[in-house]
Amino acid sequence: RPSGGGMDDEERAMTSSKPEAEEHRLGFQAHVWLTAAVAAMGGILFGYDTGMISGAQLFIEREFDLSSGEIGVVVSAVTAGALVGALFSSWLTTRLSRRGIVKLAAVVFIVGAVLAAVAQSVEVLIGARFVIGLAVGFASTVVPLYISEVVPTARRGSMVALFQLAITAGILLAYIVNAATAEEWRIVFALAAVPATLLFLGMLVLPNSPRWLVMRGDVDGARAVLHELRDPEAPETEEELQEIVTAVEEDRRRPHESIGAALTSPLARMILVVGIGLGIFQQITGINTIIYYAPTILKEVDFGDSASTLTTAGIGTLNFVATILALLFVDRIGRRKILIGGMIGMAGTMALIAIAFAVDDFSGIWRWVTVFCLFGFIACFAVSWGWGFWVMASEIYPLFIRGQAISIGNSVQWGANFAISLLFPILLTAWGGAPVFGMLAGFGVLALWFTWKLVPETRGKTLEEIEEEWRRRAGVEATA
Ligand code: GLC
Repeated sequence: RPSGGGMDDEERAMTSSKPEAEEHRLGFQAHVWLTAAVAAMGGILFGYDTGMISGAQLFIEREFDLSSGEIGVVVSAVTAGALVGALFSSWLTTRLSRRGIVKLAAVVFIVGAVLAAVAQSVEVLIGARFVIGLAVGFASTVVPLYISEVVPTARRGSMVALFQLAITAGILLAYIVNAATAEEWRIVFALAAVPATLLFLGMLVLPNSPRWLVMRGDVDGARAVLHELRDPEAPETEEELQEIVTAVEEDRRRPHESIGAALTSPLARMILVVGIGLGIFQQITGINTIIYYAPTILKEVDFGDSASTLTTAGIGTLNFVATILALLFVDRIGRRKILIGGMIGMAGTMALIAIAFAVDDFSGIWRWVTVFCLFGFIACFAVSWGWGFWVMASEIYPLFIRGQAISIGNSVQWGANFAISLLFPILLTAWGGAPVFGMLAGFGVLALWFTWKLVPETRGKTLEEIEEEWRRRAGVEATA
């Protein structure tokens, strides 16, 4: 600006109030981030409690003298519990507040951690893992729901992806604790009680979800929460409240369909096929054969205990770092492109691992090809399907089936996780590596076809536009 003299009063007033307004805005943002971060502690526990088994497994196997089938049961007990927890949580959401459910999950996490840490028999250990799984199931449905209800609409995509970042942080933490404690697997289990306690305490001070308050008829309470989390002066804040009130009223007017009734609509069926397919393919293409069983795979390629613990920690680190990178471009590249590109890498690396096992000469280059492919798979997964499933699940369902669909989709995803984590060690022993990894690569090819043919692009579209697109596809008149 050549001279200050050109500034009129209004302009001057605006520039002087800018830093203050900016400070305000940052204050609200910090508050929102803090809220999301505490809630994301649920994701950290999810990751910690599912990831910890990878390092602990070899020691548990020795201590209790387990067969590969029994190992499968110990590992997958968490996913079985999560399946039940996810199904149960849709019922819970109609009875307890989001905060209440997260608090409940935290208590269940603590109980499971203590039980597992003192288990003297494999049956108790399996029971404890199932209890932990229940909490993982609650957290996996309610935490993303809570986060998406307290953050501003424009932030939803990256905040939901934040949940996946928390999961990978939890997995990494578990790998680090595994590496630090070596055979002391009971300590690894017991330490899970620490973040669980933090989550419980955090939930005591966090606000209730405004949408939940409106659902309970407490519009003033919802306004008070929004004033904490948004700029109370800004007109958008009141608009947001009105939108929530309208959405809740519309939801109430709609006859509450049972799952069966929702399934009779061809439109709902088509959308569910896509949502459920995304969850199944995220799992059966093999992510958790690496996350839960990396040390087992590394043993197959002749890695010793300490080399394998270190490599596993490396895998956890890459998973976490690649997820951060992914968060930076979640909303810049189309979802379909990312899912397809990521899956090409995932299926390709699995196919190479299958070839390595077929050649079965882990003395030289093939051992390193396998290790490189394990890392490659993780990188491809972390930037695409890792967050992709959770974000798509929060975007593709129209309101009229959202609640039930998310719960069904989550449960089926846990079911697929359960099947793969139970069967992997059994099949690996029975068939050997080549057919098992070949099968995972084959599922990857199917996933590519599925995504190419059926998955819609949702990036940058409002939920209404996405619903429109579904109706166009189904060729049905907009009925609602
Ligand atoms: C996703 C998957 C979960 C997996 C994790 C690995 O959250 O749903 O099964 O363990 O990614 O980062």
